[in-house]
Amino acid sequence: MLDLDQTLALIGERKPAHALDHALYTDPGVFQEDLEQIFYREWLFAVPACELDKPGAFATLNVGAYPVVIVRGTDQRIRAFHNVCRHRGQRLCPSAAGRAAKLVCPYHQWTYDLDGKLVFARDMGPDFDPSQYSLKPVHCVDLGGMVFVCLAQVPPPVADLARNLMSYLAPSGLADAKVAHSSTIVEKGNWKLVLENNRECYHCSGSHPELCRTYSDDPLMTVMEGPNAASPEILSHWARCDAAGIPSRFINQPDMQWRMARVPLMDNQESFTMSGKAAVSRRMGTIPWNDAGSLMFYHFPSSWNHFLPDHAIVFRVMPISPTETEVTTKWLVHKDAVEGVDYDLKALTEVWMATNDEDRRVVEENQFGINSPAYEPGPYSPTQEAGVIHFVDWYCGLMQSRRPAPPAMAAE
Ligand code: FES
Ligand SMILES: [Fe+2]
Repeated sequence: MLDLDQTLALIGERKPAHALDHALYTDPGVFQEDLEQIFYREWLFAVPACELDKPGAFATLNVGAYPVVIVRGTDQRIRAFHNVCRHRGQRLCPSAAGRAAKLVCPYHQWTYDLDGKLVFARDMGPDFDPSQYSLKPVHCVDLGGMVFVCLAQVPPPVADLARNLMSYLAPSGLADAKVAHSSTIVEKGNWKLVLENNRECYHCSGSHPELCRTYSDDPLMTVMEGPNAASPEILSHWARCDAAGIPSRFINQPDMQWRMARVPLMDNQESFTMSGKAAVSRRMGTIPWNDAGSLMFYHFPSSWNHFLPDHAIVFRVMPISPTETEVTTKWLVHKDAVEGVDYDLKALTEVWMATNDEDRRVVEENQFGINSPAYEPGPYSPTQEAGVIHFVDWYCGLMQSRRPAPPAMAAE
């Protein structure tokens, strides 16, 4: 089991633009450092805000060892807390989601308001001060309908992401959306393999017959250099969106932790469906055309998303063990869209249900091969796998930035 120094040594020895060393995808110590240095310190996409539609609606997730509950308060504010009772530590909300007027611990019924204050604890004696036993807060922000949480004491700056994401998401109408379907799968692969696989379409033609009906696997359609640097087709799509006031041009964090751009689907098709037509007749938001393509938003370490004119698909990745990763996908539609009338659930979900399962198999086979002592990191394609290089460089750079400062030299 490697420690941080050994992990950093492997990162330091890596060949640029190559896959990572075996241990970085398999070792329990590296996995623990990935949690400590990244998942416990960075902002993570948690849930779409529309899932918490009314006061008392809550959702839970586990970030490594930390159970977290996210709940909408009576003041409409969304807050996150450690999902751990302040009495003897019972997990407060055991279910994935629900609704409650107050959060009641199932063990001895300590009861918390939706803002985390302890309001009831039976027979605790005259000296007990409930104000000392509020739920422990977790940093939480709602960025235009995407709720992010951060477990760090002092979270990294989020203002730049907030400004851009809120502007790009505004036409997608997430405030008036609902979750039409949710799927959670576990992929038997390291979380970095899940991300790497997502960040290229080199594998798409061989793996994704459903997605390839509408999503181009031409790297020019996904690899962009800046707001004015893309293929002629994308540039003309952006000019069309500009004229309609729809933010679309590629923007990114310099280290690529996040990036977003709206790109057309293949042959100006409308949605990720088998027919290429919109899956939902009641459009979301204010986008004026069915063929506006997908606003793609990626956020390392754990999320990729597609916002289409008729629906949105949000993805969340959570590491479970060195070789197991949970992938949660949610399909969002207009809150007034009626299943069976405005959309057919199978038509809405079948392309990404199939794609997720195909990606699961790819990742599991990738992990299987990497587990072999014969595995040797191979080179990424500079054209097809530029997105993977961005991810791996971001991961390695962030890990290296976590090295504790060397102790001050003793005065001579
Ligand atoms: S552990 Fe929650 S009330 Fe006892
Ligand atoms: Fe894929």
